[in-house]
Amino acid sequence: MDKILIHGGNQLKGEVKISGSKNSTLPILFASLLTDEAVTIKNVPSLADVDTTIGLLNFIGKLAVKKGSVVKILSKEKYKHIAPYDLIRKMRASILIMGPLLARLKKVDVSLPGGCTIGSRPIDIHLDAFKHLGVEISIDGGYVKTSAKNGLKGNTIHFNFPSVGATENVLLSAVLAEGKTTIINAATEPEIEDLANVLTKMGASITGAGTKEIVIHGVKKLKGFSHSVIPDRIEAATYMIAAAITKGQITLKNVTPKHLCAVSKNLKNCGMTINETKDTISIKWTKYLNPKNIKTDVYPGFPTDVQAQWMALMCLAKGNSKITETIFENRFMHVPELKRLGADITINEKEVLIKGVKKLSGAPVMVSDLRAGAALVLAGLAAEGQTIVSRIYHLDRGYDMLEKKLKKLGANIKRIKN
Ligand code: EPZ
Repeated sequence: MDKILIHGGNQLKGEVKISGSKNSTLPILFASLLTDEAVTIKNVPSLADVDTTIGLLNFIGKLAVKKGSVVKILSKEKYKHIAPYDLIRKMRASILIMGPLLARLKKVDVSLPGGCTIGSRPIDIHLDAFKHLGVEISIDGGYVKTSAKNGLKGNTIHFNFPSVGATENVLLSAVLAEGKTTIINAATEPEIEDLANVLTKMGASITGAGTKEIVIHGVKKLKGFSHSVIPDRIEAATYMIAAAITKGQITLKNVTPKHLCAVSKNLKNCGMTINETKDTISIKWTKYLNPKNIKTDVYPGFPTDVQAQWMALMCLAKGNSKITETIFENRFMHVPELKRLGADITINEKEVLIKGVKKLSGAPVMVSDLRAGAALVLAGLAAEGQTIVSRIYHLDRGYDMLEKKLKKLGANIKRIKN
């Protein structure tokens, strides 16, 4: 398995182009199942999760091909209604295959999803939503078997938690249901709006996307589409923190500043200088890094997907800070690895206390999940000496050319192929 070798201490300087959003690309790829017409998706990042999703679409009956950052999708044959275990288990977002296949085939069998190891990550909100749309569900032999003999019927669905994936699954099914569907307490992340914009281009009738109440009026048929995916706000936040942790100065291009308000605000509060234009963010170290407590929350609060990276930064702050994780119950697996680099962190259930230290020292560390891996790379960039990061296949799921982009910014970093 490949590793990343980092010699820390270089201040990162220069420009980085942010890739398209992984968490927007995946649901939009699944949306292609809702039509038999041609689909073109642009600004698609080169990621393992994108390849996994393309593989799944081609298994089901599409002809999806990625060339550079463009994916073109045609319909090849009649869809299968069973999603294979060996693909589904790789990626939690595979659960998004359910909505479109229920809408098109009125049945789908999927193995229980896999993906990151952050918490148990059940799918009860998804399944409860489908039941409200007239779907019958049974669990058999590790598969969730679902069917809607009389087709999907619109309904009002109250989410007890604004699940991103469940909101997307309802959008991907209710658009072809009979009648009106209302989601109460919907997720409001930008990726939801991007998906709704695509579905609207296809001929769907959706209002309220991006707010907590979304109304969908089902239609009979949906057209093909061409769409460019929004920039990846989590990748952007990671490079902003890379500038702060290495005392550097970076300009991010092809980014949407309004999607990063919580991260920018907290970085300014710590002492960074940040300037924004319509599609760039420039962040500069000034003279200190103050500690700043954060509590993760649903959008537009501080993103849980930036919690690990923030923790790496706070390890070198001038004082103590606290991080509270409210979205996932087990998203602190980067803590023992950061401690191997010399961090002073104590876990207390849902929160951690970080005592800022003068320096971190390079060491071999192991990645447990995508964003934990980002945190370890960031800490390695600032640590004295050599850091070897292993199990970087987790990073390849969600970061497009990470070590190439960091090297271009002046990091002493390289991938060792094993
Ligand atoms: C999406 O995951 C993102 N993934 C995650 O990003 C992100 O961390 C998460 O939203 C929260 O913002 C993609 O978009 C592909 P949720 P998702 O359903 O849809 C619980 C990354 O690093 N829950 O909002 O799975 C769940 O256990 C990834 O890019 C239920 O209890 O997130 C979790 O505690 C990691 N029952 C919380 O809700 C359900 O049926 C948030 O889950 C569904 C979720």
